[in-house]
Amino acid sequence: MSIKLPFFKSKREAPIQVDELKHVPEHVAIIMDGNGRWAKKRGLPRIAGHKEGMDVVKRTVEIAVHYNIKILTLFAFSTENWKRPKSEVEYLLKLPKDFIHTYLPDMIKNNVRIETIGDFDSLPEHTKEAVQYAKDKTKDNDGLLLNFALNYGSRKEIMRAIKLIMKDLDNQQLDLDNLDEEIVSKYLYTEGLSDPDLLIRTSGERRLSNFLLWQLAYTEFWFTDVLWPDFKEEIFVEALLDFQKRSRRYGGI
Ligand code: IPE
Ligand code: IPE
Ligand code: MG
Repeated sequence: MSIKLPFFKSKREAPIQVDELKHVPEHVAIIMDGNGRWAKKRGLPRIAGHKEGMDVVKRTVEIAVHYNIKILTLFAFSTENWKRPKSEVEYLLKLPKDFIHTYLPDMIKNNVRIETIGDFDSLPEHTKEAVQYAKDKTKDNDGLLLNFALNYGSRKEIMRAIKLIMKDLDNQQLDLDNLDEEIVSKYLYTEGLSDPDLLIRTSGERRLSNFLLWQLAYTEFWFTDVLWPDFKEEIFVEALLDFQKRSRRYGGI
């Protein structure tokens, strides 16, 4: 696989070598924020920012593949994003199809497996169809797992888990005395996935906006003022370099 990207520590320094990163985060989660503001700054409609953001997703996936990141979870549409004007919601829910139409061959070439977390069933038919197609086409790929959080809200996810657990307690599939964190994790959309090691949020906002509340318990956070459509290779690398310096103690010493 040959992905040629210009990796720079800063504009004046030499490109970053893959082996300079001693601790590559296995799972990176990104809150891709700032598309609307990016468009507004240019006097464009908000959807122009979303379109640009879609192309940045493709480049971000290539960087993740290059650095051997195993899981990339991208917050694409939240359960709260339904509050936006109908035309914007429609555009956002059409983007997965556009992304797949444009980039599925690249994803396949890069051995990427596409999955989603969130309330899939409540998405429009055309969104579900396109995404399901991509999932089926890539299901045997064993490279990067590209995990889109689509119609995802963490509190809804936790509520759903509680209900499923109650049901399984009721029908004796589960035993209350054995119920522990590991079992609860299995009832979340992220079942079977390691927790994110690194969370990135763009656009200067420093909040979680209902993203992965359970899974981010011991994740390292990295924020940047850069708006998502401007998220370039060197910014991702900056986050990865910063991650090298983190000392993860998990409550130990
Ligand atoms: C992120 O950009 C994309 C989604 C939330 C779907 P925004 O649309 O939130 O852009 P801002 O935050 O308004 O600039
Ligand atoms: C979070 O961004 C959701 C996604 C990136 C999909 P928002 O723009 O919706 O979050 P708030 O409203 O600023 O908290
Ligand atoms: Mg936003």
